[in-house]
Amino acid sequence: MITQQTIGFSQQTIGNQPVIMIENQFANATIALQGAHVLSYQKRDGTPLLWLSDQAKMEAGQAIRGGIPLCFPWFNKHPTITTLPSHGFARNLPWELMRVDAHEAGHKLVFELKSDEQTLTKWPYRFKAQLVVEVGEQLKLTLKVTNTDDKPFEFKFAYHSYFAIQDIHQTQISGLENTEFLDQLKPELGDQLTENDAIQCTAETDRVYHQAKGLYRIVEAGQQDILIQAANCPDAVVWNPWVEKTQRLGDMSAESWRSMVCVECGVMDKPHMLAAGDMTWFKMVLSN
Ligand code: BG6
Repeated sequence: MITQQTIGFSQQTIGNQPVIMIENQFANATIALQGAHVLSYQKRDGTPLLWLSDQAKMEAGQAIRGGIPLCFPWFNKHPTITTLPSHGFARNLPWELMRVDAHEAGHKLVFELKSDEQTLTKWPYRFKAQLVVEVGEQLKLTLKVTNTDDKPFEFKFAYHSYFAIQDIHQTQISGLENTEFLDQLKPELGDQLTENDAIQCTAETDRVYHQAKGLYRIVEAGQQDILIQAANCPDAVVWNPWVEKTQRLGDMSAESWRSMVCVECGVMDKPHMLAAGDMTWFKMVLSN
C-alpha cells in the first residue's frame, strides 16, 4: 500500500523529476519515477554507492546520466531504426509506483511500466515490466518482464549501473577474467577477446562480455569494495567514457569520468526470447 504515513517514505521533485525518497535503519535511497531509476543509495555508515552526474538533465523524457538507468527493450542503438532512443524507451518514460512496504529488512517498492499506444509505435509488442527495488542492508533490484501479447518477442535489457569511485586510475574490476568480450570501440576484432587479469581502465572503455559469471567486484585501494551479484544476468558491460567522449556527451562535467565506472548487468548480447503469456525475471544485488 502507498500512504504518506509509510515510515521513511516521501515524495519530492529534483528539477522536474518526481522522486521517491527512502530512509530506514539500513540505508537511504532516491528513486525517480521516470524509468524507476535508482538515483542514489547509501548505507547508514557507508559512502554513496552510485555516481550521479552533477550535470544530469532532470527533465521529463530525457535520460538521466548516473544512478541505475534501466535499458529496455533494446540495448545501445536500436538494431534497425536509428531515430529511436539509445538503450530503449523504458528509461525515458514515467513508471507507476504500485506498492511500498516497510518491513524489518527495509523497504520494498514495486514500479510498473506497461505497453501503450506510445510504446507500440516504437516496439510493436504488448508487455508488462515490473521493477522491484529493495532498500536494505543491500540494494536489490528484480526486473520482471511479462509478454502480454499473443505473439513471442525478443528483448535486451541492462541494469546500467554507474558506480561512484574516487579515482578510475586506482580502480580494478574483477570477475570478468577469461570471459569473452566484444570491444565496442574495435568491433573488427570480433567478440571472442579475453584477458587474464582484472580490468584496469586506461582509456575509453566499452566492452560487452557475454556468458559472464554474474559476480563482480570493484576494488579500489583504501575504499570499501563494491560487490555486484547478478547470477541470472548472462552478460556484462564495462564502460568509462574517458576524456573526449565525456565532452561529447554534454551531461557530464569535464573531469567527472575519473570518479565513475559503469559495470552493467543484463541481456546485452543475444536477445532473450519470451513466449506469449510468459514471464521472466532478472535479479541484481549491490553492496559496498
Ligand atoms: C553503455 C554503452 O552501456 O552506455 C556505450 O556500452 C554508451 O556504448 C553508454 O556510450 C552510454 O549510453 P547513453 O545512451 O546513456 O549515452
